[in-house]
Amino acid sequence: MTGDGPRAGTLEEPQVRAMFDRIASFYDVMNSVMTAGLHHRWRARAADLARVGPGGSVLDVATGTGDLAVELTRRVGTGGEVVGTDFSEEMLARARQKAAAGGLDIAFEWGNALELPYASGRFDAATVGFGARNFSDLERGLAEMTRVVRPGGRVVVLEITTPTKPPLSTFYRLWFDTVVPLIGRLTGEEEAYTYLPSSVKRFPGPHELAAAMDRAGLEDITYVLTAGGIIAIHAGTKP
Ligand SMILES: C[S@@+](CC[C@H](N)C(=O)[O-])C[C@H]1O[C@@H](n2cnc3c(N)ncnc32)[C@H](O)[C@@H]1O
Repeated sequence: MTGDGPRAGTLEEPQVRAMFDRIASFYDVMNSVMTAGLHHRWRARAADLARVGPGGSVLDVATGTGDLAVELTRRVGTGGEVVGTDFSEEMLARARQKAAAGGLDIAFEWGNALELPYASGRFDAATVGFGARNFSDLERGLAEMTRVVRPGGRVVVLEITTPTKPPLSTFYRLWFDTVVPLIGRLTGEEEAYTYLPSSVKRFPGPHELAAAMDRAGLEDITYVLTAGGIIAIHAGTKP
């Protein structure tokens, strides 16, 4: 990154979109490499916390290549509805291919998380997986997710967080500050894989994120930390 641009981890919205457009073709492979395939387990846990059953209706915000949306279809069944929304057309294209290959009925639609193109109270739940830290305005993104959910519905945020206790905190620093940027250099996507650790570092910790969800109007907010404190899954209910 040049000295003229924004600091790593503070990219403007059009740059975030362009970055995901560029890395879309290898995003899934990189996820599996960087998490040793564990990300599917974390998504399943997030889907559980959305508490949608057969016939339910759920929106997956910043859906990317659609893995969390796919997980949600297992919960709502054929009588239910899953909509995935994102502002990167290239990520959405991969999500649509994935759904078609799996014979899954998921509507993948373009939309900005900060201005969701859906009526208030339209869904039983809204989820976001590894997307919230990319929002240029987190409070607004959370408020939008809360708005589109019906009273009694759920908002779930699955995100990477910074572990505070060794040995995980030591491993994590090594991994994020050394290995991930190296992966970036090897793939020719240095910006993306420098942005990733920076965006995690500046994202609010679990307690602060819970407070932001409270300010967004949610109640009964809980969070679980998993993977040794690297992953946080927050959930709240709309009153
Ligand atoms: C790290 S990916 C996560 C994708 C997917 N949810 C997953 O779990 O793998 C972040 C995604 O957020 C999307 N994104 C970031 N900010 C957004 C916004 N304001 N509106 C819509 N999508 C956004 C990006 O385009 C990208 O696809």
